[in-house]
Amino acid sequence: MNARDVVPRSKNLDIDALLDDRSIRVIVCCGSGGVGKTTIAAALGLRAADRGRDVVVLTIDPARRLAQALGLTELDNDPRPVAGVEGEGSLAAMMLDMKRTFDEFVESNSDPERAATILANPFYQSLSSSFAGTQEYMAMEKLGQLRGKAEADGTWDLIVVDTPPSRSALDFLDAPRRLGSFLDGRFIRLLAAPAKAGGKAYLRVLSAGFGMFTSVLSKIIGGQVLTDVQTFVGSVDTLFGGFRQRADDTFAMLQAADTAFVVIAAPERDALREASYFVERLEADAMPLAGLVLNRVQTTKVPDLDAATATAAAARLEAGKATSVTAALLRIHADRVATLARQKRLAERFTAAHRNVAVAAVPALPGDVADLAGLRQIGASMSVAPDK
Ligand SMILES: Nc1ncnc2c1ncn2[C@@H]1O[C@H](COP(=O)(O)OP(=O)(O)OP(=O)(O)O)[C@@H](O)[C@H]1O
Ligand SMILES: [Mg+2]
Repeated sequence: MNARDVVPRSKNLDIDALLDDRSIRVIVCCGSGGVGKTTIAAALGLRAADRGRDVVVLTIDPARRLAQALGLTELDNDPRPVAGVEGEGSLAAMMLDMKRTFDEFVESNSDPERAATILANPFYQSLSSSFAGTQEYMAMEKLGQLRGKAEADGTWDLIVVDTPPSRSALDFLDAPRRLGSFLDGRFIRLLAAPAKAGGKAYLRVLSAGFGMFTSVLSKIIGGQVLTDVQTFVGSVDTLFGGFRQRADDTFAMLQAADTAFVVIAAPERDALREASYFVERLEADAMPLAGLVLNRVQTTKVPDLDAATATAAAARLEAGKATSVTAALLRIHADRVATLARQKRLAERFTAAHRNVAVAAVPALPGDVADLAGLRQIGASMSVAPDK
């Protein structure tokens, strides 16, 4: 049985039709943590390039060996050409450097002096390197930049976007707005008041209640931090037209008809439940879904068995002592067949619940996917009419 057989034929996602559709300019790979977003994004990018498109893949935190295979040896926040594309197309790849993206965002939105003040601010430094939601916010920001460049000079006609590792796929859609609301929100504004009012004068005008509130807060998070937040918000407030607005703009970009979402899930109950929520959410937000990729589907290929082990097993068989080895092999085989049947049931349940969602099944390869050959194998497995 083949991985693709877990999905009914009529439900097959035609990945090549998607990659060949020149009206599609952005493909976003989403899914919960560890399901294969980065791998699938790279595989889609390579396959699209092999089929003649000029592609840039924005990866987030790729495994080191995969990064090396893509020629990414350091975080430099700009796309680099990937060697080894077959045919007329081209592939470039980059890893998101969230802090650099944020720094560049500040620099390009303010004069050098003010940018320097912001970049040196301790609250900014923690916001830009470790705040919940910053990675999602900056992935969107980078996508916006790549898109701007693609439109300005035609370097790329397809951008494939990986999304940050998070427990829930929904974080990619929600985190930028959450961060935007936080930074633009009431709480931050209250904190920012003194910076705008010109320093300590604010204490006089605040109600006793709020004064107590800030003094409790400074005990909890430290007076210096509060001052840093106040200075930071005071200095960025007028520059960006609001973080929230910016998050809303990129959100709208994802609703455009030239964008396609690919949701990735492992063939397991929790991952598929998560994928269901995500599919429903995309529909509710009018975001265009291309389909689901069911990644790491079990196949019934006979377990890998090296020559020495096989010879030894044969010897034991000949000596009449083979039961434990053959039994173990049979158990592995039985386990794989049972897994495949379970995965097939889960896939059927998903397709029954989401009748209009096409699905591609990708087999679990024996090792990690860390070279172009592996990525090509994954790309080919997603194609309805496989190359071979
Ligand atoms: N079809 C597959 N067969 C074998 N290994 C795979 C397959 N897909 C992904 N992997 C491996 O699984 C691991 C996780 O994949 P990947 O990094 O793409 O997931 P991710 O969704 O991007 O994770 P994160 O949420 O942490 O970003 C990697 O080591 C990758 O090589
Ligand atoms: Mg990843």
